[in-house]
Amino acid sequence: MKPSIPVIAIDGPSASGKGTVAQAVAKALGFHFLDSGSLYRLVALAALNSGSPWSDEKALAELASKLDVKFRDGLIILNNQDVTESIRSEACGEGASRVGAVPGVRDALLQRQRAFRQPPGLVADGRDMGTVVFADAPLKIYLTAGVETRAERRHKQLKQKGIAATLPLLLRDLQERDLRDMSRAAAPLKPSPDAHLLDTTAMSAEAATEQVLTWYRGLREK
Ligand code: DC
Repeated sequence: MKPSIPVIAIDGPSASGKGTVAQAVAKALGFHFLDSGSLYRLVALAALNSGSPWSDEKALAELASKLDVKFRDGLIILNNQDVTESIRSEACGEGASRVGAVPGVRDALLQRQRAFRQPPGLVADGRDMGTVVFADAPLKIYLTAGVETRAERRHKQLKQKGIAATLPLLLRDLQERDLRDMSRAAAPLKPSPDAHLLDTTAMSAEAATEQVLTWYRGLREK
């Protein structure tokens, strides 16, 4: 742990827009960015590739501890293959939520996430950034939006990528994923008691980014 290096922890449910906001905040401050969900998506992809069932917790933890991944120039390389796009599939998102419930997987990914804490600072996006991984972060945000709004945002994103999806199915998948992420025993999704709550249902990503930057500047002035 390097407590002197500031971390802005941004947690929240799927499709809340936290990835967009976290990246914009990191860019504005010149900070590093950790998309912790990508690590869980990578474990899910490795499990799908190796045929390991979601019930085999030992095999999943082993895959997580041996993950051969490189983050290079905005690309994600797993076992020398560019998987930047493929881990964004709904299958990997759903798998990530399943492997994320396995304590051995979470333990195996802990140090890998903390290694992103480098000068001048880090913006970390996930489910347990403020509660577990960077519990000492000076600024924590719990970013959310109504589930219908999130389903519509995800629908728009997928449409832009030319991926077919129906709104009722996306809504059901999001509700299932929220329930799994919030009710698991290991590091469940919940706001840290010291987090700022930010509901973006009726807020643009730009306005949400500005709000986070305002909170951060306020902290610096103290
Ligand atoms: O942020 P995302 O949609 O890429 O995350 C996909 C899944 O990964 C999410 O549903 C739960 C899991 N996850 C987690 O358990 N802990 C994190 N810090 C980030 C993601």
